Amino acid sequence: MTRKILVTSALPYANGSIHLGHLVEYIQTDIWVRFHKMQADTECYYVCADDTHGTPIMLRAEKEGITPEQLIDRVWNEHTRDFGGFHIEFDNYYSTNSGENKELAQSIYRKLRDEAKLIDTRIIEQFYDPEKEMFLPDRFIKGECPKCHAQDQYGDSCEACGATYSPTDLINPVSAVSGARPVRRESEHYFFRLGDDKCRAFLADWTQAQGHLQAEACNKMQEWLESGLNNWDISRDAPYFGFEIPDAPGKYFYVWLDAPIGYMASFMNLARRKGLDFDEFWKEGSDTELYHFIGKDILYFHALFWPATLKFSGHRTPTSVFAHGFLTVNGQKMSKSRGTFITAGSYLQHLNPEYLRYYYAAKLNGSMEDIDLSLEDFTARVNSDLVGKYVNIASRASSFILKRFGGRLINAEERRQPEEEELEILLLGSEEMIARAYAERDFSKAIREIMRLTDAVNQFFDLNKPWELAKKPEQEKRLHQVCSESLNAFRILTIYLKPVLPQLAARVEQFLNLAGKMGWQDLKTYPANTINAYEHLMTRIDPKQVEAMIEANKATLTPPPSPASGGGAGGEETHPARHGEKQQHAAAPLPAPARGVPAESGSKAARSGETGEGTNGAAIAPTISIDDFSKIDLRIARIVNAGHVEGADKLLQLTLDIGEGKTRNVFAGIKSAYAPEQLIGRMTVMVANLAPRKMKFGLSEGMVLAASGEAPGLFILSPDDGAQPGMRVK
Ligand code: 2FM
Ligand code: ZN
Repeated sequence: MTRKILVTSALPYANGSIHLGHLVEYIQTDIWVRFHKMQADTECYYVCADDTHGTPIMLRAEKEGITPEQLIDRVWNEHTRDFGGFHIEFDNYYSTNSGENKELAQSIYRKLRDEAKLIDTRIIEQFYDPEKEMFLPDRFIKGECPKCHAQDQYGDSCEACGATYSPTDLINPVSAVSGARPVRRESEHYFFRLGDDKCRAFLADWTQAQGHLQAEACNKMQEWLESGLNNWDISRDAPYFGFEIPDAPGKYFYVWLDAPIGYMASFMNLARRKGLDFDEFWKEGSDTELYHFIGKDILYFHALFWPATLKFSGHRTPTSVFAHGFLTVNGQKMSKSRGTFITAGSYLQHLNPEYLRYYYAAKLNGSMEDIDLSLEDFTARVNSDLVGKYVNIASRASSFILKRFGGRLINAEERRQPEEEELEILLLGSEEMIARAYAERDFSKAIREIMRLTDAVNQFFDLNKPWELAKKPEQEKRLHQVCSESLNAFRILTIYLKPVLPQLAARVEQFLNLAGKMGWQDLKTYPANTINAYEHLMTRIDPKQVEAMIEANKATLTPPPSPASGGGAGGEETHPARHGEKQQHAAAPLPAPARGVPAESGSKAARSGETGEGTNGAAIAPTISIDDFSKIDLRIARIVNAGHVEGADKLLQLTLDIGEGKTRNVFAGIKSAYAPEQLIGRMTVMVANLAPRKMKFGLSEGMVLAASGEAPGLFILSPDDGAQPGMRVK
């Protein structure tokens, strides 16, 4: 029977950039999903979305002088681009500010209220900013710590002494939004009665049942359940960017109510587009599987609130919630001042994404332990394992096959020699163990085993000394056997590594002429075919590239936003710093909670906010006839290669295939927005009949189209799946 699996990663907030801390989770999930997608009889979907609601997003947009919708659109584009750059392949990347999410959130709420009778209302008293006329989340109130008397501490905890308290305990509180002195004000709030007996009983069972949570998480839940569950406040007062609560004018769902429902909404959108059965995945008693990958800091929401929300609204509950630990860089929290708070975009400008995918895989073991990105170890490990050992097999063995045997691998009958059999048996003998390690998210174990096998293949090659065989004509067949066998072993290793290194594996498929034939089920099929010319598969990391990246991230350190900026990223929930450090500046209004990074007040986005600009609307050009338009020959192009241009600040050099049997060279002014690695293999649109232009770097034979406006960013175009190089766009 086909396994049907739905997988999610936590939804990143729509007001901060993706950084290396976030990527632990997306890379972890993507590897797991890719492994499952490689299996026969498995249907696996991976969905995610931007988490778009809440006070910080509302205030950030206001500060930038744009609507929240404009802000979340812009960030969605940035996030999608960053994820694409790291080969994170979602089946759908959606937004919580969607019709599907509103529909689902409201219907779930109605079920909780009318059928499960689990919604209560109660008047609560909160701080209110009389100038800004809004209630203030704890994180938006600052004052003197009641314990150590440090100034300028947040409403929930003190960064100086670590004390936690409620904002009412602060001495001399002020609003971080306007600087006004907040007043106490009452308002009616809506609560999910988690403390209700049936909820408590359900959660006591669910959290302790086999397989739902990791052992460490079960224990944590036990503690929380024993200390008693409070009813959960799911409403916020206007002004709030979110969905209105049915029959409660001026009241909005708290962002954490509709965020996880965003998993369902993203899948609903996918299901509607692809004709999948939404209910099959979400109805009560479903026999499909549902997995949520999250950081350990949001366990509370996913192991308590979320299963209860699903259960009491008549849905299935998760099969498992997989929590991972935080990222440290060089043994410490990521830090802007040290240059280790590295955004995805910045990483991609300096390094190949597959280096990081490999390194994270080598570190992740399926537990909630934190992982460390030691930059020295990262460089050494990638260079030694991937370039020195793995890729080396292909470059060494293929040179003989290409030079001496016209690229043809030995055929299956001539092939067999006892040692060769042993090599293949050794490699295939680890299949189950590697598969289990992937399935159990113990990627480090899989990588260790794959590298042990890689060593064995190199040993086989070295022991047989093909460079000496090559000197003796009578050893011709032996040379053919040894090199073919080494390439076959390389093929097997590549299948094993494919979930981690998808782009490299795609290039190996081209090189070995095995496109579409490198699934898990192909492991045992010896390919007696002809290989293509070997092109460098991966280059070594030069420590200078890493240094440059650190320097570049130090350079982005900017002064703290002004108290009116509302400019931190992330949600308003009370958390210890999660994947990064808290904002260091005492004058900053908000910490960098959650998974985001502090706003860069010097960025173009922030500046456009100050001037009240920020639309993309340039005047429409004068009307032209269809004949005028048809003079422009637009073609689908595959970006075969992309690279930097020495001495050019803005240009990238692209090699484009538009189905002419030869490639075109184009210089495109897109360096500010794309790293070459992000582009290789992508399809885009080019003007194919533009007169060639001689530039100081060479001849440019066309133009790649890109969108830009006043809002930051530059975006090249992508056709829908199915478009082929050379197709005309009209
Ligand atoms: O912690 C965060 O970054 C949240 N935006 C995660 C939401 S995950 C889900 F529940 F939507
Ligand atoms: Zn204190």
